[in-house]
Amino acid sequence: MEVFDMNNSTVMVTGGAGFIGSELSHQLCQCAERVIIVDNLVNGKRENIQQLLNDRVTFYPYDIRDLDKMIPLLNEVDVVFHLACLGVRHSIHSPLENHDVNATATLNLLKASREARVGRFVYVSSSEVYGTAQWVPMTENHPTLPMTVYGGSKLAGESYTRAFYRTYNYPTVVVRPFNSFGPRCHHEGDSGEVIPKFLLRAMAGQSLIIHGDGSQTRDFTYVSDTARGFSAPDSPIWRQVKPSMWARVRRSLSTNSPAWWMSCLRTATWR
Ligand SMILES: NC(=O)c1ccc[n+]([C@@H]2O[C@H](COP(=O)([O-])OP(=O)(O)OC[C@H]3O[C@@H](n4cnc5c(N)ncnc54)[C@H](O)[C@@H]3O)[C@@H](O)[C@H]2O)c1
Repeated sequence: MEVFDMNNSTVMVTGGAGFIGSELSHQLCQCAERVIIVDNLVNGKRENIQQLLNDRVTFYPYDIRDLDKMIPLLNEVDVVFHLACLGVRHSIHSPLENHDVNATATLNLLKASREARVGRFVYVSSSEVYGTAQWVPMTENHPTLPMTVYGGSKLAGESYTRAFYRTYNYPTVVVRPFNSFGPRCHHEGDSGEVIPKFLLRAMAGQSLIIHGDGSQTRDFTYVSDTARGFSAPDSPIWRQVKPSMWARVRRSLSTNSPAWWMSCLRTATWR
């Protein structure tokens, strides 16, 4: 079985300045040759990734919907980790924009990635596609009955990702994390999460606010474990992918100067 050589790969993380994306970027910096982080900072923060930036790790404050900017970047990439999205609470007041970013932009990115011969497209979905659990523990074949526009848009993103594999044999992966917690999580606004909210109130000596009757349950995963599920060298995500020869030639063409190519031509021995 072929295993993707991460050490020689250029990876893109969309939503890479966000909570999980920044953790994933931190982990990928340890192993990938180059990391390209894209985030329009609507909910992410530059400081989440500032310390990572160097000549191997670059940040582009682009909107994923702006294909004129995304396509040239995709031409340099071997693997896309697509995490950029707008969240569940945003979908309640702005359902159309939520769908536009989470579903339509995913479809556009899939098309652009395939055309740019990106070696693999990893779509980070969400347990929200299940809606309310009909049985626990939930299995992967639990019915998907999203209860929010966010859940619906993530399911659409999943479906498009799977369709690109079925229709074009394009190598894609869908991962469906449950709730994560840990460093760089959000504690306010549309993206505020329950664990940081509880912690802040507890530290301020205030009572915790629980919605409903308190009997509801959730699964929580520490964020570095969530990200390791995508990025670990032994993760199934890396199997059977290899950057195409064309991708390597194209990358070499774009990263080496004309003077370098001329010197190669001058010194080459022709047989
Ligand atoms: N946090 C969780 O518990 C959880 C659970 C399940 C799935 N997920 C999934 O994981 C991924 C990351 O979630 P997160 O919690 O880190 O969210 P997050 O909001 O911290 O990260 C998303 C990032 O996307 C960026 N973004 C939004 N719209 C964009 C656009 N148009 N162009 C470029 N960037 C844009 C935001 O600025 C943000 O930094 C999402 O796809 C989400 O569905 C998260």
